[in-house]
Amino acid sequence: MSLDAAMTAPALEFRGVGHAYDGVPVLSDIDLAVAPGEVLSLVGPSGCGKSTLLRLAAGLEPLSIGSILIEGRIVSDPRTQVPPEDRRLGFVFQDIALFPHLTVVDNVAFGLRRRAAPERRRRALAALEQLGLARFAEAYPHTLSGGQQQRVALARALAPDPKLMLLDEPFSGLDARLRDRLRDETLDLLKARGVAAVIVTHDPEEAMRMGDRLAVMSEGRIVQCGTPAELYRRPASPFVASFLGEVERFEGVVQDGHVATPLGRIPAPGLSQGAAALVLIRPEGVVVGEALADAMPQARVIDARLLGRTSLIRIAVDGVAAPLHSRMPGDVLPEPGAAVSVRLDCRRAHVFPLAQGALSDDAAAPPRSPAPDRP
Ligand SMILES: Nc1ncnc2c1ncn2[C@@H]1O[C@H](COP(=O)(O)OP(=O)(O)OP(=O)(O)O)[C@@H](O)[C@H]1O
Ligand SMILES: [Mg+2]
Repeated sequence: MSLDAAMTAPALEFRGVGHAYDGVPVLSDIDLAVAPGEVLSLVGPSGCGKSTLLRLAAGLEPLSIGSILIEGRIVSDPRTQVPPEDRRLGFVFQDIALFPHLTVVDNVAFGLRRRAAPERRRRALAALEQLGLARFAEAYPHTLSGGQQQRVALARALAPDPKLMLLDEPFSGLDARLRDRLRDETLDLLKARGVAAVIVTHDPEEAMRMGDRLAVMSEGRIVQCGTPAELYRRPASPFVASFLGEVERFEGVVQDGHVATPLGRIPAPGLSQGAAALVLIRPEGVVVGEALADAMPQARVIDARLLGRTSLIRIAVDGVAAPLHSRMPGDVLPEPGAAVSVRLDCRRAHVFPLAQGALSDDAAAPPRSPAPDRP
């Protein structure tokens, strides 16, 4: 391969990858490329195959279907399995596993064992310095907090200067503030060094915050891949829409290019007259305002909580079975029992044909029934 080709080749590429454990398929038709320096977030429900995909890329699992390439070179296919240490990648997996009998600096130096001893120590100390861990160099892992151990694992993976990092829920089990900080620090480090990365997370907000792009998985397949804005604003299926954030749902029938909901008509471009449709709308698209004398339908505040920048308002709406959730700027905090007006912001609504895609389990709340026609 020419130097040019190597420079433009994806940092990591899956081509037609499938996998089964003991004959039970867990991954199918995975086609995915991560560009040099790109951070890709991999999200999906528990058990959908995220860790398996990373383990295959790391060379910890033999590949029987398709191929995996790193910088344009095949590292896994049914005839090839380049060992993990020859893939020029760093990984931090779900269970951190530092060596308990080695000091922090020796743990980090372990990843550099092909180099001369003085250089190993120098580079290990530099990696610890970068993650603010220099003062723990001679400590043993059990004397460190969970967050500190996680940073040591990150330092160990980064020390050999890989061009590709595989991170499997690297921030799980940390408190919210530490998690935020470590997330930002990790992202800054990856970007400063131009390291491509795949980061697995359960948390859609973390995925959108870290990833240049997001790949959403369901039952062993990638169901949509794109920038956070593309996925959030134009989800390809009800599953993706509900996975990336809370949604309110209404069912209805398309008439004159619109679906009727209890809170007004929503445009349904591309759906045919009479088709059954599912409308999903995010709480920030449920807009609460001053009560209007002739408001239809009647709406009342059940309760309102300030969550920081935004408030979460639960509203009982005439003709709608379950309370609606609205997310408004934090200065909108109506009293329980107050009469309010509610409208839907069509720009925040996603309309799907009803037959398309199943909702995820946690999102399978019953849809709201259509409103009777207005007089
Ligand atoms: N070593 C194994 N042997 C047999 N089955 C396995 C093995 N590892 C994983 N599986 C199964 O493969 C499927 C995918 O597992 P995987 O660990 O890749 O999911 P995941 O998306 O990482 O889930 P989580 O979010 O819970 O970590 C699951 O059904 C799991 O039970
Ligand atoms: Mg996993």
